[in-house]
Amino acid sequence: MPVERVTPDLSGLGQGFRCSRGEFVTYWRQGRIQREINARISQCWVLRCEDSLAGYVTLIADKLDLDQPILIDEGVQYQTFPAIKIGLLAADKRAKGAGRRLVEWSIEYVASEIAPAIGVRFLTVDALYDEDMTPPYDASGFYQKFGFCFVNAEEVLPPSTPYRTMYLDLKPLIDLFDDSTSGAEDGSTV
Ligand SMILES: CC(C)(COP(=O)(O)OP(=O)(O)OC[C@H]1O[C@@H](n2cnc3c(N)ncnc32)[C@H](O)[C@@H]1OP(=O)(O)O)[C@@H](O)C(=O)NCCC(=O)NCCS
Repeated sequence: MPVERVTPDLSGLGQGFRCSRGEFVTYWRQGRIQREINARISQCWVLRCEDSLAGYVTLIADKLDLDQPILIDEGVQYQTFPAIKIGLLAADKRAKGAGRRLVEWSIEYVASEIAPAIGVRFLTVDALYDEDMTPPYDASGFYQKFGFCFVNAEEVLPPSTPYRTMYLDLKPLIDLFDDSTSGAEDGSTV
């Protein structure tokens, strides 16, 4: 199914949206996402099934702060790096696989469309952790399936914030897209 950028035409979607976390229904229905798009501080993409919203994801600019310089082998001493963050992600509980599709699309989109235009290497997310649920609600297991790592792997649970920040290194994928782009541009076979 195609992932589509939210436009005013799509803003009527989501009346029957059902998510395991009610606040993500509210973010959509009460206009928080549309307000952030209008304010140009977020962009949102959706997956839909005919006229029903199956899921949404927002992407925002971010900065990844690490406690060590992980790119020393590449001659880069920094501990802070440019990144794109998955801001809000939600899937309708009836739309199996919608969350995976939106994350995989985000990874590919950032690596193929954003990274060639500006320096950005990492995808980040604040993985929701809700200790008030029994057992605690922990979204990090979902992101680990795509290879995301914890910024603070030693953090004791429950975390001091209602989330744990994670990151994914996109360089292998960025390089792959860059090779195929340069091949296409100079007319050589990819
Ligand atoms: C997190 C969320 C987006 C995942 O979307 P989804 O459509 O349910 O996920 P998918 O059906 O694509 O599942 C992909 C895989 O992740 C697994 N998974 C989903 N949530 C998980 C979790 N919290 N922990 C571990 N694994 C999880 C699924 O079991 C599935 O595993 P499989 O491929 O081995 O079968 C969705 O559950 C949701 O909207 N949750 C509420 C809002 C939320 O937590 N958003 C993220 C905030 S950071």
